[in-house]
Amino acid sequence: MLAANLAQALDPVLFAKEALGFTPDPWQEQALRWGGKRLLLNCSRQSGKSTTAAILALHKALFYPASLVLLVSPSLRQSSELFRKVQDFLKALPAEQQPELVEDNKLSLTMKNKSRIVSLPGSEGTIRGFSGASLIVEDEAARVPDELYFAVRPMLAVSGGRLILMSTPFGKRGHFFKEWTEGGDTWERIMITAHDCPRISPEFLEEERQALGEWWFKQEYLCEFVETEDQVFTYDQVMMALSDEVRPLFFEQ
Ligand SMILES: Nc1ncnc2c1ncn2[C@@H]1O[C@H](COP(=O)(O)OP(=O)(O)OP(=O)(O)O)[C@@H](O)[C@H]1O
Ligand SMILES: [Mg+2]
Repeated sequence: MLAANLAQALDPVLFAKEALGFTPDPWQEQALRWGGKRLLLNCSRQSGKSTTAAILALHKALFYPASLVLLVSPSLRQSSELFRKVQDFLKALPAEQQPELVEDNKLSLTMKNKSRIVSLPGSEGTIRGFSGASLIVEDEAARVPDELYFAVRPMLAVSGGRLILMSTPFGKRGHFFKEWTEGGDTWERIMITAHDCPRISPEFLEEERQALGEWWFKQEYLCEFVETEDQVFTYDQVMMALSDEVRPLFFEQ
């Protein structure tokens, strides 16, 4: 391997800059260089989640032969869009770094080095049959069904692979919320509001606040897990009502 490629293999940020001509934001650098196994990214809309997922996938597949990278999205449309980002970055590579592809579809590719990148839509049926994933990235994790998340996790068992959940919040429910609030310190957590994104101007945000109203604005741009609008009781009210000290009314013990 060329010395320049070796440096890129060791540093995904260098890879993004040199090979893809892409300059990551500070939080994207942090996510790209992160060395742990479990990462939660709670990010504003349009902050660059999917772009970061695509770079992570490509870096892994290119430099680590025989890697299986799974990209999971809530819907077919979103998994197609995410895979298109991977393909666009692939095209941006300089000619001498272009990998030979032995399979190239709308939602998956296999490189000659035996690495695969597969972009999966959010139904549990599509996920069965994969094993030994080196990297799993859930994009829009708050909208990915919990069943799918539970189906995906065992694929890391043997490979010791890494799991990244990246999302804008979507109510106080589902596995993304649960891992963010109760997942413990096996997870690293990074939060990026729209104010932290250099491409989103304060003027635009003010306009959005007016147009969307507080509820949507807090969720989409400020990374807040707000109550689902039709919820009768708030999450905190329900949690406060759950007490071990209260004996059930109708069950004799
Ligand atoms: N570091 C960067 N420098 C320049 N442009 C960037 C950077 N990161 C992301 N972008 C651009 O910002 C836009 C949004 O990026 P992306 O789709 O990755 O964000 P997202 O968080 O997935 O958005 P959404 O919440 O809508 O899914 C895209 O046009 C992308 O090319
Ligand atoms: Mg996205």
